[in-house]
Amino acid sequence: MILIIDFGSQYNQLIARRVREFHVYCQIDPPDIDIAYIKNLKPKGIILSGGPSSIYEKNSPKCDESIFNLGVPVLGICYGMQFMINALGGTVKRARKREYGFAELKIKEPEGLFKGVDQITKSWMSHGDSIEKLPRGFRITASTKNTKIAATVHGKKNLYGLQFHPEVHHTARGKAMLRNFLFDVCGCRRTWTMKSFAKDSIAQIRETIGDKKVILGLSGGVDSSVTALLIHKAVGKNLTCIFVDNGLLRKNEAEKLKKTLKQHLEINIRFVSAKTKFLKALSKVTDPEKKRKIIGKIFINVFEAEARKIKGADFLAQGTLYPDIIESKSVFGGPTSVIKSHHNVGGLPKNMKLKLVEPLKYLFKDEVRILGKELRLDENLIWRQPFPGPGLAIRIIGEINKRRLSILREVDEILLDEIRNIGYYKKIWQSFAVLLPIKSVGVMGDSRTYENIVAIRAVTSKDAMTADWARLPHKFLGKISNRIINEVTGVNRVVYDISSKPPSTIEWE
Ligand code: XMP
Repeated sequence: MILIIDFGSQYNQLIARRVREFHVYCQIDPPDIDIAYIKNLKPKGIILSGGPSSIYEKNSPKCDESIFNLGVPVLGICYGMQFMINALGGTVKRARKREYGFAELKIKEPEGLFKGVDQITKSWMSHGDSIEKLPRGFRITASTKNTKIAATVHGKKNLYGLQFHPEVHHTARGKAMLRNFLFDVCGCRRTWTMKSFAKDSIAQIRETIGDKKVILGLSGGVDSSVTALLIHKAVGKNLTCIFVDNGLLRKNEAEKLKKTLKQHLEINIRFVSAKTKFLKALSKVTDPEKKRKIIGKIFINVFEAEARKIKGADFLAQGTLYPDIIESKSVFGGPTSVIKSHHNVGGLPKNMKLKLVEPLKYLFKDEVRILGKELRLDENLIWRQPFPGPGLAIRIIGEINKRRLSILREVDEILLDEIRNIGYYKKIWQSFAVLLPIKSVGVMGDSRTYENIVAIRAVTSKDAMTADWARLPHKFLGKISNRIINEVTGVNRVVYDISSKPPSTIEWE
């Protein structure tokens, strides 16, 4: 395994994903982990990530410097390199100007990390400080016009530093550099596959749960479905899933999910219909946070009541993914303000005193999909676009009632139908419709109409942290607008959302 020490870079998850793409397991930990913990992990190599701090700031993140004496290869990237050089006796100077963007890298030694890389290649820089003087034993291996020490190595100790970011795709041969580090320098082997993960994980779950009972909140999304399959393979009948129909799902979604889940997962599933409870509590509520809180609370009540019927359950399983774990223990403590209170299905009935089982907590979304394939999960479930726990409630801006839900469901169905038809469903991260709380004037036949407006949102993204609006073909947009206005009574205008995240978010509420 490779240990990645997180100094707060926005790219740290990208480093991890790059490493795993080479089928090498890696783990991201904060800098304050102690040396005994690191030794116990037995890493084949350590990567020090970049970060927004300057090494001279008082509270800049630091890790135990004895990592440089473990005899384990270390690769410092940007801030990580500066931390290493400063710790080993070199100096870092504050640059007068930040260097940001492309820089032509001139490689002096076409070996080590640069084996097989052209002598002149594009690199991606994002730094304020630079290395001024190297410690004894280090030499310069590459430079750019503005940065003399753009790459360095201590050959005997296997310590490497890169001022630029090999993990971002703008660094043309970044992947080759990381590959050289993993296989030539650290001697890693390609053993991390979802096949081996499934085998180990099933054995581990079996050992943890034994002959006890486990409950899981199933939403029909890929994460909870894969979690269910893994656990079912491990403990069979001792797993009971609970699916709560909150009345905020897409058209026929509950029925469709029920069918697929029953058909493809021969798992004990309890379907609980709680539509009326949710709709009643949401009546006249327009504030997005209030909506989320109400839905979260009722979900937990309904879930708990159902779970109590399952006698002797000791464990609660959740489909938590690695990005949630990384963010919650990041150096800077994750997001400082709550932007939206996320209600994740299965999210925690605290007083139930159940022990948590989170078999996907070291996986990224794309790995979960591969794992789903490995476990022969239904293709439709594997590729189902993410759907938020609060469902259509946060896509109906303003009041939620049966009529507005019905309008949005019809619109949404047309949109998804067409998105699938042009083959974009898998290509984009999410596509959905939003019902606005305003009306506009239109003309149909010879009559004036005064009806609802819907917005179409389609985004591309890797992980929902950032997203861009999808450049859907104009012809296609025209077609769905036509179909929606002609087929859905109550809608006379369609608009397309062209905002990216940030500064907007994916969902409107
Ligand atoms: P935002 O709107 O924050 O959404 O850019 C990022 C991703 O999260 C999904 N989302 C949710 N998922 N419960 C969920 O399980 C929620 O409360 C929730 N709110 C947003 C959203 O669909 C997008 O994929």
